Amino acid sequence: MNNKSILITGASDGLGKALALELASRGYALALTARRFEKLEAIQQDLQNRHPGLQVEIAAMDVSRTDTLYDTILDLKTRLKKLDIVFANAGIAYAGKIGKSPLDNHLQVIQTNVNGAIATLDAGVRIFREQGFGHLVGTSSVAAYRGFPRNAAYCASKAALSTFMEALRAETYKEDISVTVLHPGYIDTDINRALDSRPFLIDAKKGAVMMANMIEKKVARSTVPVYPWALLAPLLRRLPTSMIAKM
Ligand SMILES: NC(=O)c1ccc[n+]([C@@H]2O[C@H](COP(=O)([O-])OP(=O)(O)OC[C@H]3O[C@@H](n4cnc5c(N)ncnc54)[C@H](OP(=O)(O)O)[C@@H]3O)[C@@H](O)[C@H]2O)c1
Repeated sequence: MNNKSILITGASDGLGKALALELASRGYALALTARRFEKLEAIQQDLQNRHPGLQVEIAAMDVSRTDTLYDTILDLKTRLKKLDIVFANAGIAYAGKIGKSPLDNHLQVIQTNVNGAIATLDAGVRIFREQGFGHLVGTSSVAAYRGFPRNAAYCASKAALSTFMEALRAETYKEDISVTVLHPGYIDTDINRALDSRPFLIDAKKGAVMMANMIEKKVARSTVPVYPWALLAPLLRRLPTSMIAKM
């Protein structure tokens, strides 16, 4: 046990689940949330078998129901006694051109990835101010660096989350609150398995180790993995629209 605790949204699968497994092996007490409660129960059972005595709390939480998040997160904090880290990770993607696909699908991406993350981080800040310390982490994306066709709402959602968290870091500058914005490239999870191309793909376990190291170092922001994405990010911003349109 290392006496640290983390709350993770979107912990039932993909990066959130992989990070939960990695941090459990590092001794973190966990509060795991997602919509699919039965998946959380299976992860809780697995972790308690592998790490007897480790505290793993779970709660069904749909981040798009923003008015419910504070109460659920406060309840989990009470169960864990304190929360060192709140990780706004839950997210969805929807591929479709604007005007040729249902508007509601694009708006749902914004509701989950932007409003859901903002409400998670808002709850985190309130709890951290009350307890006197804390660390906010969010999963943005390299998609934050440029708007790509068929993913307008997703790219916009990640740009919004990154900018929101940069502002949050400035707002909490004089408090004992840290802010880390992670920008993954392609990490093998359900969110991208249907894509034709996944350049520089890494597996979720490797991604989780990298993310856990970055969180423990409290980096302000980073691509995941760092390379080649840190070099490609400025390039993505400068590519002509004619090239982006072909992607
Ligand atoms: N994998 C990548 O290459 C990559 C790259 C850049 C950014 N990201 C970001 O990383 C985050 C995690 O994605 P992933 O790759 O792990 O995808 P994933 O395997 O599809 O997992 C998504 C997770 O988010 C949860 N979720 C979705 N909607 C939710 C909602 N309304 N309320 C609560 N939980 C919700 C899902 O749980 P339930 O369905 O049980 O609710 C699931 O646990 C996302 O924000 C994604 O945009 C991923």
